[in-house]
Amino acid sequence: MKIGTPLSNSATKALLLGSGELGKELAIALQRYGVEVIAVDRYPNAPAQQVAHRSHVIDMTDTDAVKKLIALEQPDFIIPEIEAIATQALMDIEEEGTCTVVPNARAIQLTMNREGIRTLAAEWLNIPTSNYAFAQSFEQLQAAVDAGIGYPCFIKPTMSSSGKGQSMVKNADQLKAAWNYAKSSGRVDTGKVIVEAKIDFDFEITLLTVRALNQHGDVETCFCAPIGHVQENGDYRESWQPQAMSAAAIKAAQDIALKITDDIAGLGLFGVELFIKGDNVWFSEISPRPHDTGMVTLVTQQQNEFELHARAILGLPVDTAIHSLGASAVILGRIDAQGVNYQGLDKALSVPASEIRLFGKPEAFINRRMGVALATAKTVDEARNRAVKAAGMIVIRPDR
Ligand SMILES: Nc1ncnc2c1ncn2[C@@H]1O[C@H](COP(=O)(O)OP(=O)(O)O)[C@@H](O)[C@H]1O
Ligand SMILES: [Mg+2]
Repeated sequence: MKIGTPLSNSATKALLLGSGELGKELAIALQRYGVEVIAVDRYPNAPAQQVAHRSHVIDMTDTDAVKKLIALEQPDFIIPEIEAIATQALMDIEEEGTCTVVPNARAIQLTMNREGIRTLAAEWLNIPTSNYAFAQSFEQLQAAVDAGIGYPCFIKPTMSSSGKGQSMVKNADQLKAAWNYAKSSGRVDTGKVIVEAKIDFDFEITLLTVRALNQHGDVETCFCAPIGHVQENGDYRESWQPQAMSAAAIKAAQDIALKITDDIAGLGLFGVELFIKGDNVWFSEISPRPHDTGMVTLVTQQQNEFELHARAILGLPVDTAIHSLGASAVILGRIDAQGVNYQGLDKALSVPASEIRLFGKPEAFINRRMGVALATAKTVDEARNRAVKAAGMIVIRPDR
């Protein structure tokens, strides 16, 4: 592996498609190795753009716009940070063979649509998932539920993330509203929704899984300790590492993660979302990139998920060991306002072993993640208490 000098002809260039908080940490990790980082988003001053060498604002779902930018920047690596990307552009670029799409264009295409990844996991790889069906009309949805999926169930747009357009339906009376909500709130209206039987899990985890080169130059798969998390309305609020689970459940979780990442292939870190009940494990979905719940690794691992992704991409060796028990708790905007002020940082940081990351987003929304509190402790419960306490001390106010 050879790395050039940033901002010179020899530069090793990474183009980040999506410049949120995860992209920001990844940009920093890449820059530590002297990679030239170009951060792209649909709005200016996004978190990763604030630390990148330069940035661009484009509509990343526009195939021509993405291709034009790639032609202009000629990156060595294209690293998608979000799902809403013109995947055809990535397919075409990959075909040309001049740069690496991380982990590869097929992975990006498969995971941007729930239908692609679910069909691969359940029908091609025989991985256990919830019972599910796709519906293109309310009548199809009703029929699928009546034919066996039953209640409670989840209705989701096939293209959406962070719980957008998703609802849990407890009985037949709620089905129509869930259909309408999914149809109106997806990222792109594919005309389809997925309906999934509710899995009655004990807890859910993200299993960070890394495909990286070992010292012999062979691809090796490594796993981080499982990350437990709490979701509200489909969006993450708290995570912790490690999540205690049985040896059989860990084994089953790793087997599933290995199976699906082997099929996806490429180099990089993946967030494999799994539901656990006793020794039983169900696959939910996978991100071919760092995962929001994995921000906890900023304090629990020597090589956090961003460092692991950067190393894997660059063909460098990785170590997924955990060194401390820790937790994260999100800091939500709680107001709709631009150019907000953050107060209470001093109080938050007086919580023992705590850290605060503010993402510097130009605009706050009530449910927008504006920062994260992190903490370590001797027990996971104590770390969770600390992270939640520290997050709660940050007050976001409009600037006036
Ligand atoms: N079939 C299911 N059974 C139980 N809980 C579910 C199911 N589907 C989704 N959930 C809950 O909703 C959360 C978000 O769903 P997910 O499919 O991961 O959507 P997103 O892509 O928006 O993250 C999950 O982490 C889980 O807490
Ligand atoms: Mg999810």
